[in-house]
Amino acid sequence: MDSRLSPSFFSQFTPTSFVIETDTELVGFLLGFLSQTREDEAYVRFAGVHPDFRRLGLGRRLYERFFAAARMHERAWVCSITAPGNRLAIAFHLRMGFVPKRGNGAVDGLPVRFDYAGKGGHRVVFHRRVAPDAWPAAPTPRSVASTGGETPLAVTELIDCA
Ligand SMILES: CC(C)(COP(=O)(O)OP(=O)(O)OC[C@H]1O[C@@H](n2cnc3c(N)ncnc32)[C@H](O)[C@@H]1OP(=O)(O)O)[C@@H](O)C(=O)NCCC(=O)NCCS
Repeated sequence: MDSRLSPSFFSQFTPTSFVIETDTELVGFLLGFLSQTREDEAYVRFAGVHPDFRRLGLGRRLYERFFAAARMHERAWVCSITAPGNRLAIAFHLRMGFVPKRGNGAVDGLPVRFDYAGKGGHRVVFHRRVAPDAWPAAPTPRSVASTGGETPLAVTELIDCA
């Protein structure tokens, strides 16, 4: 199994991971999760459609299902990263409404974050807003360090994710 598809990802992120199956085989999957660091984001770890079933709308269905799950969990943004050389994934993400975030360089006119995933691990970082426009802006969490360790965070500043 591809190391990006460790079974533990599927068991740990069941509510935000999806598959599409025929009667006999699994033909598409999306492995995603809710960010624990950024409370308004959900993240697509990896997605794929069997080569024989591509360009039939299955990738779109998987992503739209994930967008709905993200919204349900009050996540305004979905993020995804891909290698600048993966032209297929880049075309797909742009078609799905993703926008590349600012990079520290560019490849073929696309913003790229060089060495994002370690030396030589260049990545295009995509995001897409999935929340309705009427949603209020997410509150900005305050760093614990900024309190100087003296002022405990007030309970009212914590975001209830239940
Ligand atoms: C990327 C991938 C998941 C797309 O799956 P798919 O089922 O073929 O995609 P869909 O048929 O749902 O296409 C959705 C849209 O993207 C567009 N699209 C898909 N593949 C494209 C390509 N190679 N070039 C240009 N546009 C493409 C489609 O035209 C469609 O647009 P439309 O609905 O407006 O007509 C699939 O190609 C794949 O598994 N690639 C290998 C793994 C990978 O790179 N994953 C990237 C995410 S981590």
